[in-house]
Amino acid sequence: MADATPPATLRLEGVRKSYGVGTPVEVEVLHGIDLKLQRGEFAALIGPSGSGKTTLLNLIGLLDEPSAGRLFIAGQEASALGEMEATQLRGRAIGFIFQYHYLLPAFTALENVMMPMLAARGRVDAKMRDTAAALLDKVGLTPWRDHKATDISGGQQQRVAIARALVMNPALVLADEPSGNLDTENADGVFDLMRSVNESGGTTFLIVTHDPRLAQRCDRIIELVDGRIVSDAPNLSVVRRG
Ligand SMILES: Nc1ncnc2c1ncn2[C@@H]1O[C@H](COP(=O)(O)OP(=O)(O)O)[C@@H](O)[C@H]1O
Ligand SMILES: [Mg+2]
Repeated sequence: MADATPPATLRLEGVRKSYGVGTPVEVEVLHGIDLKLQRGEFAALIGPSGSGKTTLLNLIGLLDEPSAGRLFIAGQEASALGEMEATQLRGRAIGFIFQYHYLLPAFTALENVMMPMLAARGRVDAKMRDTAAALLDKVGLTPWRDHKATDISGGQQQRVAIARALVMNPALVLADEPSGNLDTENADGVFDLMRSVNESGGTTFLIVTHDPRLAQRCDRIIELVDGRIVSDAPNLSVVRRG
């Protein structure tokens, strides 16, 4: 029977990842991950260091390929795409926020936010510039728009990185310890910002964090241990809020 339900933003079926394949040090670090994220979900990915969180995020972000299993982004099987198509899908559908923001130091805050547009389109027109400027405004950085990335604080740099992650209006944002090198106040600010984008635009978030306080602010908490999902449940303290 036909089903009008839109495809999940993200779906993983039996995803495995081994490093060093074909060498004496071959090791499997993800052992068959099944996971589904619907549009608008705001989920935390937690687990001890070395459990495979970054490896999983890199696979979901199409930065690396699974050794086995299937991965779908908005219903499209990403694991079946060639490198060029995967790059295009990544640019269109996925935003990244890393612990270290990787801003380009020689460029201004605004230019850094526009960078994904330049990568995707090969040029930036006035409309794209307006979009980027509006996002910088949303993260409270209009006064720093034309400052070099190196001339603003760490918290401000992470806000630029968030604006950059959102500039292509991605369906899915992947954040790996986004507040890992920020103080509590800036960590809260970054988190509030991701939450407001999630609530206003229906953007799906998957956020790796080792901070239980921040994980408790997510709607769903997925726990990875030794390359396996050992728990995955709604965070009732948040869900009851609405
Ligand atoms: N490029 C790599 N080559 C070999 N082993 C790796 C590589 N990247 C990560 N690993 C190993 O995979 C496991 C999971 O790492 P990672 O995904 O970084 O965990 P987490 O982000 O949860 O700390 C660790 O044992 C790590 O040493
Ligand atoms: Mg990691």
